[in-house]
Amino acid sequence: MFDHLLKYFQKVKDRRITYLFDQDKKRAMNFSVLQEDLFLDFSKTNIDQPTLELLINLAKFRGISKARDAMFRGELINTSEGRAVLHTALRNLEATPIYVNKLDVMPSILQTLERMKVFSDRVRSGQFSGQGGAITDVVNIGIGGSDLGPAMVVKALAPYDDGPNCHFISNVDGSHVHDVLSKLNPEKTLVIVASKTFTTSETMKNAQTAYDWMSGTVNEPCLQFAAVSTAIQKTDEFGISRDHVFGFEDWVGGRYSLWGPIGLSIIIALGAEAFESLLIGAHEMDVHFKTAEMEKNLPILLALVGVWHNQICNYSTRAVLPYDQRLSKLPAYLQQLEMESNGKSVDLDGSPLDFHSSPVVWGESGTNGQHAFFQLLHQGTRIIPCEFLVAAQSHEPYLDHHHKTLLSNCFAQSEALMHGRSFEEVCSKLSSDDIHHEKFEEQARHRVFQGNRPSTTLLYSKLTPKILGKIIALYEHRVFVEGKILGINSFDQWGVELGKELATGLENFLTTGSDSNDLNASTQNLVKVAKTMW
Ligand code: F6P
Repeated sequence: MFDHLLKYFQKVKDRRITYLFDQDKKRAMNFSVLQEDLFLDFSKTNIDQPTLELLINLAKFRGISKARDAMFRGELINTSEGRAVLHTALRNLEATPIYVNKLDVMPSILQTLERMKVFSDRVRSGQFSGQGGAITDVVNIGIGGSDLGPAMVVKALAPYDDGPNCHFISNVDGSHVHDVLSKLNPEKTLVIVASKTFTTSETMKNAQTAYDWMSGTVNEPCLQFAAVSTAIQKTDEFGISRDHVFGFEDWVGGRYSLWGPIGLSIIIALGAEAFESLLIGAHEMDVHFKTAEMEKNLPILLALVGVWHNQICNYSTRAVLPYDQRLSKLPAYLQQLEMESNGKSVDLDGSPLDFHSSPVVWGESGTNGQHAFFQLLHQGTRIIPCEFLVAAQSHEPYLDHHHKTLLSNCFAQSEALMHGRSFEEVCSKLSSDDIHHEKFEEQARHRVFQGNRPSTTLLYSKLTPKILGKIIALYEHRVFVEGKILGINSFDQWGVELGKELATGLENFLTTGSDSNDLNASTQNLVKVAKTMW
């Protein structure tokens, strides 16, 4: 499937990206797309016109448009679980009908959204109160998609946050629940148990611990609990009143779920208007994805750049570098979105892949990363494509003192990665004393930057709810396109099951010392040694 691209890559792999700029004076324009308030620049990559054409042909050959339409229509494209994939319906505020098993899902989505608005207004206004009065703190207990999306969005949109303080507990490590709850007043706290399945062991343990904590002072703790789940019977069993339970359907994947009830903490923090703007932004990206021609289609282009770097150039990791402190949780969010979606070894038919699937996605906000791992990005032996994100404007009135410095740093990094600094350039910068030094050559070599390291930059006007919605939806669709090109199911996650099963068995072994014959000697020994340290 990648033959033409691989062959072409062999021809151009040693060429410098700067050479492409010399050849095409309009390259900066030709290899970038402005979509309203988002500007994607992929000119600092080794992609030229023939490469782009080959990539677009690949997307066409893999049937992206047809597959995309099938997803939006609600077809059962998550074949290993027999489910539709309809997170896009959660932001379809136009309410055009979408059918799953011949039933229009829109009325129930809008009804739930309305209930979320009413509930969040009541919490924010103090009408819904705890035993000790108005709610001052909201604790979202969830993990994976039931945590990362809401936590990332609440942090990203801090300038719009005028509700109770939101906290997020995910890790089963007792220190997490302890450190959050120990600072809160149970009588003024609302706990949201967010779990699609309502069976995830970490979440259920943390929920129980929070319940016990609240029971210490609150007479009816369940009145200060809300739940978000597809498993209403289980939320009933927990004892949470249905007035505080917000349901959704199994066609919303965990890592795609922040747009619906899993976003309850977001709507409580930011209010209904900002939450709706987030949805509107995402919906606008859905429309763009559905209607823009491939050459101008942001999710398709971003995915094609990804395929070029990962499957063709064999760069196995990608750094996500938001020059936006409020997006510092974006790399972690994208790790789940991309690696849980596309970290697969078999295609839709279960046949082994003969190419690599998802790259390792990692990153950190700039400029912090510059003082940590950028050394390796610039001079390490591996080439790591970098994805910069930055806002043209900040919310703070520090344009001159901070924001111009932030922008300069962001743009300087992609320039430095691409251009590098040759031995000759280093020499021309050294002083005459240096040049006459006996170890002159050796000294100079340490200062050489090979350059020719690719990057993309996503420049957006300002991190508003609407623009954040667009950015997240852009990444969601990029994952979909990459998955479709690779021929895998981006919507299941069987790879997390084995560890879960073994952990249950090991917990029994740790607790009771019961049968452990099926465990490897190393694992058995780790248990034994841990016990000697209790
Ligand atoms: O890590 C596996 C996973 O199933 C994720 O896909 C999901 O987001 C997370 O666990 C939490 O699941 P739940 O919302 O059902 O608790």
